[in-house]
Amino acid sequence: MKPFKAIAPLCIVATLVCAQSAFVAQNVPLFATASDGSALGELIVASQVNVLSQKGEFTEVEFVGFMPEGSTKAYEKIGMLMVGFEAPTPSTYKVIGQKKDEYESIWLNVSVKGFVKTKALKETKASILEEGKAAFQAKCGTCHALHPEGEFDANVWPSILEAMSPQAGLSSAERYSIEKYLQNYQH
Ligand code: HEC
Repeated sequence: MKPFKAIAPLCIVATLVCAQSAFVAQNVPLFATASDGSALGELIVASQVNVLSQKGEFTEVEFVGFMPEGSTKAYEKIGMLMVGFEAPTPSTYKVIGQKKDEYESIWLNVSVKGFVKTKALKETKASILEEGKAAFQAKCGTCHALHPEGEFDANVWPSILEAMSPQAGLSSAERYSIEKYLQNYQH
């Protein structure tokens, strides 16, 4: 029983490592090393990451997603415009495969690994989306009635938010928070 006793407290301290995956609570830089050094790019709110290891206040994570060739944005799922990670250049990503979507377009399956502040991760997505819901209700019903969440599908909301963000004076963080809430809404 000794090894078990040794491992159990570790799991309590490092619940995220034991859970093996986590969600990003807000847009956060993904650092190349376990420090506030140079960022590889930005992980976008509510995206899922694989948890690899823990180092002090940082957690090493991997984001795996899909993108059209030459893109600097990687999406959470093939054919779905839910942004998972934004990089300065396409070369930030490691291409691990490619796949065709239902329209025969090719998407690169990509991976990017780095470190985030552990406090920016959550074990579940629901509370993260709740913040997006609150922002949506506060910012999107002042000029017109709130449009229902189910009015548009996940690939249409981004262009609506592109047009409405300046109207509502949204920061990039608020825009993504609202966008992810609407895209994750179950019709
Ligand atoms: C400053 C006022 C203002 C705010 C704040 C605002 N809107 Fe709008 N919205 C408009 C106007 C004006 C239109 C109609 C003209 C247009 O489409 O640009 C509109 C149209 C829309 C439409 C209809 C588009 C279509 O093609 O049918 C949707 C959906 C929408 N807004 C969503 C939102 C969301 C989501 C937010 C919050 C991020 C938001 N609006 C915040 C002014 C606003």
